[in-house]
Amino acid sequence: MDYFPLFIDLKKQPCLVIGAGEVATRKIELLATAGASISVIAPVICKKIQELADKNSHITLLQKEFSPEDIDRQRLIISATNNKVVNKLVAQTAKQHNIPVNVVDSPELCSFIVPAIIDRSPIVAAVSSGGASPVLARLLRSKLESLIPPAFGRMAQLANKYRATVKEQINPPAQRRIFWENILQGSIAELFYSGKEEEAESRLQQAISNKTTSNTQGEVYLVGAGPGDPDLLTFRSLRLMQQADVVVYDRLVSKEILALVRRDSELIYVGKQRDNHSLPQESINALLARLAKSGKRVVRLKGGDPFIFGRGAEEIETLVQENINFQVVPGITAASGCATYAGIPLTHRDHAQSCTFVTGHLKDNSVNLNWEQLAAPNQTIVIYMGLVGLKTICESLIQHGAPTDLPIALIQQGTTHTQRVITATLSSIYQKIEHENIQPPTLFIIGTVVSLHNNLKWFKPE
Ligand SMILES: C[S@@+](CC[C@H](N)C(=O)[O-])C[C@H]1O[C@@H](n2cnc3c(N)ncnc32)[C@H](O)[C@@H]1O
Repeated sequence: MDYFPLFIDLKKQPCLVIGAGEVATRKIELLATAGASISVIAPVICKKIQELADKNSHITLLQKEFSPEDIDRQRLIISATNNKVVNKLVAQTAKQHNIPVNVVDSPELCSFIVPAIIDRSPIVAAVSSGGASPVLARLLRSKLESLIPPAFGRMAQLANKYRATVKEQINPPAQRRIFWENILQGSIAELFYSGKEEEAESRLQQAISNKTTSNTQGEVYLVGAGPGDPDLLTFRSLRLMQQADVVVYDRLVSKEILALVRRDSELIYVGKQRDNHSLPQESINALLARLAKSGKRVVRLKGGDPFIFGRGAEEIETLVQENINFQVVPGITAASGCATYAGIPLTHRDHAQSCTFVTGHLKDNSVNLNWEQLAAPNQTIVIYMGLVGLKTICESLIQHGAPTDLPIALIQQGTTHTQRVITATLSSIYQKIEHENIQPPTLFIIGTVVSLHNNLKWFKPE
């Protein structure tokens, strides 16, 4: 190890920054978050630093050249000038007086390194490449940032509040460690991260008085898996997928997304069966309730967004009736994902004042929409599940006044590497796709925004 990592308490400690440009600004802001008492020395001071000093009485500006006596009694020094002679002088003087010094972008002059920081105070993680590649350290930091929920720090404060009580009540230490592991990676922490902090605290209190975290009832996470590209999952959905005991998924969830669930979790498919019938909705609702009641943490993974043509509400209505804990995680709906990946901005202001999502498939297999409203100009219509009813949809729109040459796009398997976009007009689309071997799922976008596709398309599937 070239550098020994440690965390220093800098509250009210005198720290010196030499330089007062953009880089120095970032260092001053960082030292200020640690509560340091900061002196800044530079012949010219930028406006931003001036403003910081106006707002923070712990920042003192000294408009002058650096001289060696300035380092007197400093706890830590950062040189952020672009003057090599000054930087060298600062480093030499600091080293002579045994004061830790960092010279920005000159690892050979540094006695300490400022790491890339993930701040979820009181939890702080620091990443360093020992000066070899600060960019690599920052990339690692952004990966960690995405894994650590924003409320992680507040969760640590809650744990701290009950630390002594748990120490008193739960023994021996090995059992206490298991207790905390279950709390901090279990349903209580998830409840906390989803914003139900009071409920999480009362369940923690209950677990402490029962001296156990074993909860006889599990819970259900209704998670939107997005339109197909795994990169479009949210941080929260990925975290929940990696904690699930069971994942109940349907047809629209891609293999690549399923590959991201916890390796040992049980996968239950409830999409189309071999006889072409999906598991009836009531059976899915009952299955989720049964699994949760047996103590499992269940992820119900649905394509797109669970609340957009996803029957998510029906599933959680059953959970509400059965008093089972659940949370819903939004996903990117197909309209948004497909339109974006096809280079079709749904509400470009030169073309559309509104955008309507409709389903082209009704319960009794009919297509019964408000055609008059949908045929009006200056709008975009997105049709989910519209392939079977396409002919009826186009004819009905034309009958109600939509122009025959109104552009329409069919997007097949949007956002995936098999995405296809076919554009035509209301009067020509049906014939154009008749011999095209279209594969599900497909989505239609109708409106003059479709004409932008040629110019704005950017996603090129392999
Ligand atoms: C039952 S709906 C579910 C919609 C989903 N909840 C959502 O928010 O995207 C299924 C329909 O969504 C559309 N769809 C979903 N993913 C798609 C994709 N990757 N490409 C094209 N259409 C898609 C298709 O019209 C498909 O028939």
